[in-house]
Amino acid sequence: MRILVKKVLSYVGLSDLVSKCYLALQSFRERFQYLVLYPLVLNVPLLSNIYFMFSKSFSYEAKLFLSSRRDYLMKKHNRSENLFLLRRNIHRLEKGILMKSRKKVFALDYIQETVDLFCNLVQGGHENEQMNWAYDILKQYFEVTDSCPQIEIAQVRFFALNFEGRKVSVYQPFPMGNVGDEDLKSSFKQLVTKRKSVRYFSLGKIPPRELMDEAVEMAGMAPSSCNRQPFEFRIVDHSELAQKVLALAGGTTGFANSISAVVAVVGQMNVSPTVSDRHLMYIDGSLAAMNFMLALESMNISSCPLNWPEDKRKDTQVAKLLSLQKYERPIMLIAYGYAEEQSMLACSVRKPIDQLRQYN
Ligand SMILES: Cc1cc2nc3c(=O)[nH]c(=O)nc-3n(C[C@H](O)[C@H](O)[C@H](O)COP(=O)(O)O)c2cc1C
Repeated sequence: MRILVKKVLSYVGLSDLVSKCYLALQSFRERFQYLVLYPLVLNVPLLSNIYFMFSKSFSYEAKLFLSSRRDYLMKKHNRSENLFLLRRNIHRLEKGILMKSRKKVFALDYIQETVDLFCNLVQGGHENEQMNWAYDILKQYFEVTDSCPQIEIAQVRFFALNFEGRKVSVYQPFPMGNVGDEDLKSSFKQLVTKRKSVRYFSLGKIPPRELMDEAVEMAGMAPSSCNRQPFEFRIVDHSELAQKVLALAGGTTGFANSISAVVAVVGQMNVSPTVSDRHLMYIDGSLAAMNFMLALESMNISSCPLNWPEDKRKDTQVAKLLSLQKYERPIMLIAYGYAEEQSMLACSVRKPIDQLRQYN
């Protein structure tokens, strides 16, 4: 439609005039916003509520939050299939155990919930490292805490499960080792300097899945709030599907066709119990995405992060393509592959140190 209008305007010789009017209007609108509208809205709190009541973007975010919270609460109260909550609670117990001035009794408000969750997950067939970790930390918790009715009830259910024999590894808080290492520093510097956003890839030469899995495992080593890891890497290495996903990303103009594979870093808002935590999936997902890109780089696989701005229509389309849940949305896309040998890289000069940091 846009293209058609442009063609008609150019045909009747009005495109210059219309484009000047459009720019003037835009400039007027922006000046009005920062000189009149925003100061007014900022100074009268009620006005900002009214202003955002009609914002499509915020109502979209609100809906995303409500679906996420609904899912979170449902899983919390069913005490099943909620690995996020298990990881969070075990993480809190672990912090309690390693505390220098450890309390004799702690975690009373969530120990039963944690044990129920653990037992239900095990009975539901979950057996993996997370469960081994959860078991060991719970066992240690019962060893280091004093007896009290809440702890005793939880303890009875926990030990009735008889999980001990099923696990191999042993987990417990461990002492900090030697962290200084010049070689490590120099290798890391080399790695972060070598990584650049590559936009042209050798088509048809897709990195093997074993390497991608390794990269995802390294991505998973990134820190995340309460170890909840509210994200998933959706790897699209089928080039037809990759093209459909890439067609939705705005920032690929001119090079989308030179990409055969893409990853959607998908955030999962349903792990966040409160409104104030609703941004965690973006933060945690981005930290993991950085690990992921560096991991790829360390294996000579190039990548380019691609913006996923908020756009309800595109979110709906990508959700269909990737079968996303209501509480999931892409945080960013990452194109990946083997760099085309002749491709050029942007210098992208960085801010100098005095613009990057301030002490105190
Ligand atoms: C969240 C995010 C979104 C990005 N989106 C795009 C994009 O849509 N298109 C693109 O060509 N590059 C995109 N980039 C890449 C940046 O342009 C690039 O990282 C930056 O210019 C620094 O260059 P370098 O990565 O080569 O060091 C994005 C980067 C990030 C972190």
